[in-house]
Parts: sequence; structure tokens; C-alpha cells
Amino acid sequence: MINIPKGTKDVLPDESYKWQYIENTAREVARVFNLSEIRTPVFEYTELFRRGVGEGTDVVNKEMYTFEDKGGRSITLKPEGTAGVVRLFIENGLASSPMPVKTYYITPAFRYERPQAGRLREFHQFGIEVFGSASYQTDAEVIFAASTFLDMLGVKTQLQINSIGCKTCRAEYNRALKEYFKPRLVGMCETCRLRFDKNPLRMLDCKEEGCKKINAGAPNITDFLCEECAEHFNGVKSLLDGYGKKYTVNPRIVRGLDYYSKTVFEFVSDEIGSQGTVCGGGRYDGLVEELGGNPTPAIGFAAGIERLMLLMENSSAPFPEADKPAIYLAGMDEISRAAAFKIATDLRLKGVRAEIDHMGRSVKAQLKYADKIGAKFAAVIGEDELKSKVLNVKNMADGTACAVKVENLYAYLLQEKK
Ligand code: HAM
Repeated sequence: MINIPKGTKDVLPDESYKWQYIENTAREVARVFNLSEIRTPVFEYTELFRRGVGEGTDVVNKEMYTFEDKGGRSITLKPEGTAGVVRLFIENGLASSPMPVKTYYITPAFRYERPQAGRLREFHQFGIEVFGSASYQTDAEVIFAASTFLDMLGVKTQLQINSIGCKTCRAEYNRALKEYFKPRLVGMCETCRLRFDKNPLRMLDCKEEGCKKINAGAPNITDFLCEECAEHFNGVKSLLDGYGKKYTVNPRIVRGLDYYSKTVFEFVSDEIGSQGTVCGGGRYDGLVEELGGNPTPAIGFAAGIERLMLLMENSSAPFPEADKPAIYLAGMDEISRAAAFKIATDLRLKGVRAEIDHMGRSVKAQLKYADKIGAKFAAVIGEDELKSKVLNVKNMADGTACAVKVENLYAYLLQEKK
């Protein structure tokens, strides 16, 4: 017996409807926000993520599934969706289509992390990426797309926002951070000491208790924003306020990927343990240029589907009922089984979920099975029914029955569905 790889999960027949529900909700949100679906490959050249996500990040340094293919090229399974989408945007000349270009995706992603509740090595994201607009209104729209998605699913989260500024304000902030951290470095972890030289902003991300305490006193980026970045951030907040959207400004949100600038945000929950960030995103105005395109502002987010699933299960957010067969057609003998087969096929062609026997069961066992699989109605076909072409259609929930002509069966089921 070969087991499933560590950090991955199967989706079983009786839970796939939950996945479909979340994915359908994502597609509905994408529709109302006028976003078009795009799909990128599961693997890309490693260089894309090195340059796109950033050499200084845990994702690139420690977590990528990288291998050499038979042609000697370095390939990486996508650890996130954004870099591939930016490559798609540049490579397909989408920059010359009318702006903004508004896209969404549902994708698996792969990170070699220590698995725990809400943290997997293969996970799935619903993400959106909008290109071409530098306006704060687009930031607000993207944040509202995420919050609409979470609202539609009925989950409760807290929205936290921050601005990490542009290159100019960040240079000044980095200097201030270094000044603050330098005398405190002895008390900090090895990773933070390394980050001190390369990217002190990343130190704010550290989860070590000792570092967290020191981080609490560090200066806030929001005090270092240049005029343009501060104005942009105020614009975002004013649109959120104008709609009455609750949020907190959390100056410690720096995000784990290198491409962000200006607005960053997260939707977090305290109901699913330490991996409480269900959705994260922000603006990445420099990334298209970094990856070889013309300078193009952009913003997006990604929500983790497994974390949402956990949250929905933990917080008893309502999943709709799984779709069950509308009717089970039992056959008494060879000829009536053939009739059941034909009736079921006709119904299926009209879009009715119908089931028949595949196991050669007795009529009694067939009806027991129909009950087990949650069929709404069941009808037994025997010699009488073959002759009369009338079925005794039994409501499995209350045991009542109704005589229905075979030719009227579809209309009957349709009416009962209402
Ligand atoms: P991220 O914060 O790395 O951002 O991931 C987004 C979401 O994916 C997280 O909030 C979480 O729900 C889920 N996630 C991440 N890692 C795991 C894991 N190991 N197991 C389960 N779920 C996980 C990004 O990926 C950016 N590309 C988001 C973005 C799009 N920014 C702009 N556009």
C-alpha cells in the first residue's frame, strides 16, 4: 500500500460538494466583479519565482518544489498564483488590451512547509489579479471582492490593512528599522539576524516569541509613508469607511512575498488555530516591470480554499445540502432492468440526476440502497409497470406514493423539485 504524500489531501466523494460550493461561489464573485478566468501551468521555470516572489522570502529559499526536467531545465511547481499570472499578462501582450485587465483563477499551489492544520504542501487558492490601474479605488474594489466572497460563504473574519509604501518610503523605513534592531540583534533568532542585512522589513514577519516581543516596539511603516503613498492609503480607507466596512490598520502586516508596494491586506480568523490568515493580498506595482513587461500597476489577493473549508466547518457556516438523486429506478428482472435503464437515460438527457442498480441486488436491497444514497423518489419496475407504463413513484422521506405515467415522469419530478 502506497500512502498519500505528506501534506496533501484527497477530496472524497461525500465532501467534493463542499469544494464545488466554494469554487462556484468564487466564480459567482468573479462574475459580479467582472473578472475573467485565466489558467496558467502548474509548473513554470524556476527563475520566474526567484525573480517574481523574491530571493529573500521563505517561499523561494525554503519551500519550493524545484527539479530539473529531462531537458536539464530548472522547473518549479507554482508556490503561488501571482508570478505566473504576471508572466501570462506579459507574454500574451495583454498590456495592449483596454485597461484594466481583470482576471481570476482557482489553482493548486505547492510549498514544502511543515504540515499542520490549515497548512499543506499542496493547497488551493482562489485569486484575483487586476492590471493597469494605480487608483486607490481599485485597491478598495479588490478588497471588497475578497470580503464579498467571504460574506457569501458566511464566514466571519477580520480585515486588517496596511501600506508598506513605495521604494522611496521603504528605504527610509528600512534605515529606521535597522537603527532600532541593531542594538537588539543579540536577542533575535538567526533568520532575523540574516534578514537584518538583506531585508529588515521581513524581520517583522518572524513568529519566534523573543523576536515578536522585540518587534512590538519597532517603528511603524505608516509613519514613514511619502505624501503620495499616504494619500493613496487614505483613499483606500475612505472608500472602506464610506461603505461602512470594518477594518483595522495593522502596521505589522508586511506579507511574506517580496513584490508588494503600497496597500497590503489580510482577512484573518481566530477560529482555526495558528494558520488564521484565510486571504491575503496587496498592490504590486513593480512586478510586471521586474518580470520584463512595461511598467504596469497591479493588485490582487488569494484566498486559501483549505483554510476556508476549515473555517466553515469550525464555525458552522452553512454548506448547502449535497445534490442527491431525484429518483432511483429499481428493476425486478432482466426486462424491467432494461426499462429502468432506458427511463434513467431519458431523464439524464433532460438533466435529471437518476440512478439504477449496478450490483444485481434484489428489489428490497435496491430500495434500501436508494434510501442510503438519499434518492428523493424511488419506483419499482416489474411486469405490471411494463404493461401499464405507469409507475408507483414513492417519496422516500414520507413514504407516500403517487401513480405517474412514464411519459409524465420528467414533468412530475420537475414539479416536485420546486
Ligand atoms: P499568500 O499569503 O502567500 O499570498 O497566500 C494566500 C493564501 O493562501 C493564504 O492566506 C492562505 O489562505 C493560503 N495558503 C498559503 N500557504 C498555504 C499552505 N501552505 N497551506 C494552505 N493554505 C495556504 C499569495 O500567495 C499571493 N500570491 C496573493 C496575492 C495575489 N497577492 C497579490 N495577488
